[in-house]
Amino acid sequence: MTGLFIVFEGGEGAGKSTQESLLGAWLERKGECVVRTREPGGTPAGEAIRTVLLGKDFEGLSDKAEALLFAASRGDHVDQVIRPQLEQGAIVLCDRYLDSSVAYQGYGRELGVERVRDLSLWATGGLLPDLTIVMDIDPSIGLSRVQAPDRLESEPVEYHRRVRQAFLDIASKDPEKYLVIDASEAADVIAAQIAERVSELMGRSR
Ligand code: TYD
Repeated sequence: MTGLFIVFEGGEGAGKSTQESLLGAWLERKGECVVRTREPGGTPAGEAIRTVLLGKDFEGLSDKAEALLFAASRGDHVDQVIRPQLEQGAIVLCDRYLDSSVAYQGYGRELGVERVRDLSLWATGGLLPDLTIVMDIDPSIGLSRVQAPDRLESEPVEYHRRVRQAFLDIASKDPEKYLVIDASEAADVIAAQIAERVSELMGRSR
């Protein structure tokens, strides 16, 4: 594969989408072909699954069904969008990926980290990002920025604290593949940190 796969992760209200669009615009100015996508979603089936997962119509959805649906959306997304785009040389920027399942379902729901990870690895044929940018924020600050909380955002703050710790633990084990950002910094300062790391990655891999 010749493209680059870059994922944004982190808790709620950390400014992932802002940074994803700033990075996308910066890469496009450099002449790169950029594909922006998100999870759950990114394909027609994925977007339908998203409405089940995040809508408030399914408050009683079981934890296992939740984990399976996130993995189902991811498998379809990789087969139909991410892998084909990478094969064509695009830079794929994805808002959330496998580590969200590990953090929210594995740690947050306490379903078992290995099991949740293995499920997504099976669904995706083992595709992992070249770089994951973790936007780290205190959940009490992040959640206060969310305007209309969805089903997961409505979980208690302790749940979101477990999720935050999970992302930090995952990132600390593999600093080559992760960049942890203090999301309380100004957006332009963060954008510069991300651009520097992505330049480095492009220099190495192309
Ligand atoms: P989204 O609206 O994209 O939230 P955000 O703007 O915070 O990224 O909703 C995604 C929600 O789904 C978010 O609460 C995190 C959760 N999620 C999981 O629990 N597991 C997953 O595998 C993914 C991809 C997301």
